[in-house]
Amino acid sequence: MVANLKNLFSESVKNMKSSAIRELLKVSQQPEIISFAGGLPAPDLFPVEILKKMAAEVLETDSALALQYGPTEGDRRLREIIVERYRKEGVAAELKNVIVTTASQQCIDIVSKLFLNPGDTVVCELPSYLAALQSFAAYQAKMAGVRHKGELAATVGKLVAEGRKPKFIYIIPDFQNPAGTTLSLDERKMVLDVAHRYDILVVEDSPYRELRFEGDALPTLYQLDGTGQVITLGTFSKIFVPGFRLGWLLAQEDIIAKAIVAKQAMDLCSPVFDQKITARFFDQNYFEGNLKKVIAAYREKRDGMLAAFEKYMPAGVTWTRPQGGLFLFLTLPEGLDAKDLFNLAIKENVAFVLGEAFHCDGSGKNTLRINFSYMSKEKNEEGVKRLAQAIRLMC
Ligand SMILES: Cc1ncc(COP(=O)(O)O)c(C=O)c1O
Repeated sequence: MVANLKNLFSESVKNMKSSAIRELLKVSQQPEIISFAGGLPAPDLFPVEILKKMAAEVLETDSALALQYGPTEGDRRLREIIVERYRKEGVAAELKNVIVTTASQQCIDIVSKLFLNPGDTVVCELPSYLAALQSFAAYQAKMAGVRHKGELAATVGKLVAEGRKPKFIYIIPDFQNPAGTTLSLDERKMVLDVAHRYDILVVEDSPYRELRFEGDALPTLYQLDGTGQVITLGTFSKIFVPGFRLGWLLAQEDIIAKAIVAKQAMDLCSPVFDQKITARFFDQNYFEGNLKKVIAAYREKRDGMLAAFEKYMPAGVTWTRPQGGLFLFLTLPEGLDAKDLFNLAIKENVAFVLGEAFHCDGSGKNTLRINFSYMSKEKNEEGVKRLAQAIRLMC
């Protein structure tokens, strides 16, 4: 055993904060708990029977390739499918713009690796996705938070004036994690204006884009930009199955070339068997029908959740009304601490994630993220009822 392991760890590891949230999540995994904490899709919606058939077919017809190492950039057919889907939306994507990744968490790691030196600045939303903030921190970047999109230009301008020009703006435009909010078309244009004015990249992380319950889809930042200044991160986790760990990166060719090199050193290739099954799932026309089912189920859960909030929440508590995705975000009256609520709620067997964890500036102490996709409709309502009781104890 080495004498002083602590001194051997890299500077990056020293920047990997073990979050208090992980500890809280452990409690929330006990079976009696109604958990709004994770970001998990509903397992009863996984298309198990079809996947059994697809897996058998792949093994029967394509095992030599499916069980072998594959190309780092991904299975060609799956890349074609991703490109075709973008092209249907009018996005000028080609094969050279897309690589398959080990889901979007790997995309975050890849863009961090490609662009972040220690001390670099990343502009993030307040709040933003916790595991992205952790990745940027591990690469020793500094985060600058923006609460309202209207403040973006001023924040970036100030950073530039201070000699801290950000490397990129990290943004989740559709049904954001954790807030459940969506950028309007004007806000999308504004983000791009700022990126163009200051010549900085935009990293558009969009796992929930296709989980839209109502209204029309807005164009991606990638499409609105059209100049190659946006990198889009996609994933099959929320629209298909997370266990396959498959996603993709859409970017200009020069970035894709570097991303392939970076990915090579991470995992050589993403699971080939999973890629083959996924491609077959699309090719046999199962995907769109399955997605429709998922959207309908989550819409119903979202509706039930919002109705329960209206029914049970005490005055002074506010929440977002997401038009898609998996989350809504609750704000307690000023001065209340979600940590205190967590302790009370756990006694009632209800768990959530503290909103503070998603704020790179340590704010958001009176906020909490609520997931509505994982639990049943009935448990969701019961959980909201108990949560409201716990809040009343604090007011
Ligand atoms: C905004 C955002 N990005 C990335 C991820 C990572 O997901 P995956 O690696 O499963 O694609 C998540 C997961 O919840 C997320 O919410």
